[in-house]
Amino acid sequence: MQLFPATSRTSIFYLLVLLLLSYATDAHNITSILAKNPEFSTFNHYLTITHLAGEINRRQTITVCAVDNAGMADLLSKHLSIFGIKNVLSLHILLDYFGAKKLHQITNGTALAATMFQATGSAPGSSGFVNITDLKGGKVGFGAENNGGKLDATFVKSVHEIPYNISVIQISKILPSAEAEAPTPGPSQLNLTALMSKKGCKNFADLLSASGAEKTFDDNLDGGLTVFCPTDEVMKIFMPKYKNLTAEGKVALLSYHGVPVYQSMAMLKSNNGLMNTLATDGANKYDFTVQNDGEEVTLKTKIVTAKITGTILDEQPLAVYTINKVLLPMELFKASPTPAPAPAPEPEPEPEADSPKAEKNSSPPDPSAPEGEPADQEADVNGGVRFNGVRCFAVVLSMWLGAALLV
Ligand SMILES: *[C@@H]1O[C@H](CO)[C@@H](O)[C@H](O)[C@H]1NC(C)=O
Ligand SMILES: *[C@@H]1O[C@H](CO)[C@@H](O)[C@H](O)[C@H]1NC(C)=O
Ligand SMILES: *[C@@H]1O[C@H](CO)[C@@H](O)[C@H](O)[C@H]1NC(C)=O
Ligand SMILES: *[C@@H]1O[C@H](CO)[C@@H](O)[C@H](O)[C@H]1NC(C)=O
Ligand SMILES: *[C@@H]1O[C@H](CO)[C@@H](O)[C@H](O)[C@H]1NC(C)=O
Ligand SMILES: *[C@@H]1O[C@H](CO)[C@@H](O)[C@H](O)[C@H]1NC(C)=O
Repeated sequence: MQLFPATSRTSIFYLLVLLLLSYATDAHNITSILAKNPEFSTFNHYLTITHLAGEINRRQTITVCAVDNAGMADLLSKHLSIFGIKNVLSLHILLDYFGAKKLHQITNGTALAATMFQATGSAPGSSGFVNITDLKGGKVGFGAENNGGKLDATFVKSVHEIPYNISVIQISKILPSAEAEAPTPGPSQLNLTALMSKKGCKNFADLLSASGAEKTFDDNLDGGLTVFCPTDEVMKIFMPKYKNLTAEGKVALLSYHGVPVYQSMAMLKSNNGLMNTLATDGANKYDFTVQNDGEEVTLKTKIVTAKITGTILDEQPLAVYTINKVLLPMELFKASPTPAPAPAPEPEPEPEADSPKAEKNSSPPDPSAPEGEPADQEADVNGGVRFNGVRCFAVVLSMWLGAALLV
């Protein structure tokens, strides 16, 4: 009656549990989808190094228009910078579901699809849209909008479809787009404060310039930088407290809103945890915690929980997001329920300082501060339930397996 040696029984059991665990996360993985088709290996490689793969994986409804290695060779022969390649490839990621069937049955025969290039905020005019048109003889044409109405590429085949989550299709060639291929200014030539000013964070940008904190941000532009800027409304309300800080405190507060690494939205959404900032300096931790909950990303200091409300720019190596609250470091502001252990840095007396000491500035309890705790608990409860569910299933499975193998 010996059907399987004991070792293979256990390995079958672990295999099943592994399978089960992989079903427990229902997200798709574009890298492994494309890995099954060697003809897309170059396309796949560039999705990874441009961080677009993570961006695709976190979207729930997405269509990837892949081109084969020959198509990618044409693109690479243009010798674009990696930022240019990223823009071109983001034009091939449609923010809607287009399976083979839907492509051939487009209402009125033509549609404009928004792409991830549009979502980066760096696509001028309507250049971030792709025109999809049903042509004669069952063909489907694709062209970048703003390309003189030319539909350069056609649908080749469906590669992978999970309706209505992800569709991977092959198109005949890369969509030419002068806008996507335009040389992107090297990040260090970029005027960060001018960019923020244009996109609703003028107050924060002006303070960066006035305080001298701007230089620290600029110095980090090339190596990777993420900025969380409070919007103008938020900054306006905060101004009385800001004015109370010493010159040194002001620089620390502003620098606390920058992180010296590039964090795309996808990375923020998949990595919870502590983050050091541009204000971090030896004993002065000046860190905060990133915590995501589905589509929402929050930044928690000991005093306040802010939420990311928008993306101004997300292009490696620079990401700039808007937030709905000023991040208050405990090094400068006392936590309301328990006094902060770390005192504010002792500043030299400086003429600009409007108040004698930063540490005197015990801000009133922020109404939003307690918000974080229920959310925490909720997350823990959910995690526990999910874990128990899996474990419970695994126990049942092992019993069933044991019975099946012993019969
Ligand atoms: C996706 O799959 C690739 C290769 O199969 C793997 O290296 C990568 O870690 C996976 N990504 C995620 C987010 O699971
Ligand atoms: C299709 O065409 C009709 C008539 O021209 C128009 O009323 C309708 O809005 C179009 N539908 C879409 C989805 O463009
Ligand atoms: C797409 O391009 C075709 C061909 O230039 C044009 O006739 C059609 O109106 C365009 N579709 C949309 C939705 O703009
Ligand atoms: C599609 O995505 C949703 C949300 O992530 C998930 O619940 C569902 O199981 C997915 N469908 C398939 C067929 O994977
Ligand atoms: C950035 O732009 C602002 C005006 O928008 C200007 O005052 C400042 O000098 C510029 N900075 C650099 C480094 O060019
Ligand atoms: C600023 O500091 C002064 C003196 O320490 C204090 O009276 C005032 O309440 C503070 N204002 C704010 C908005 O924190």
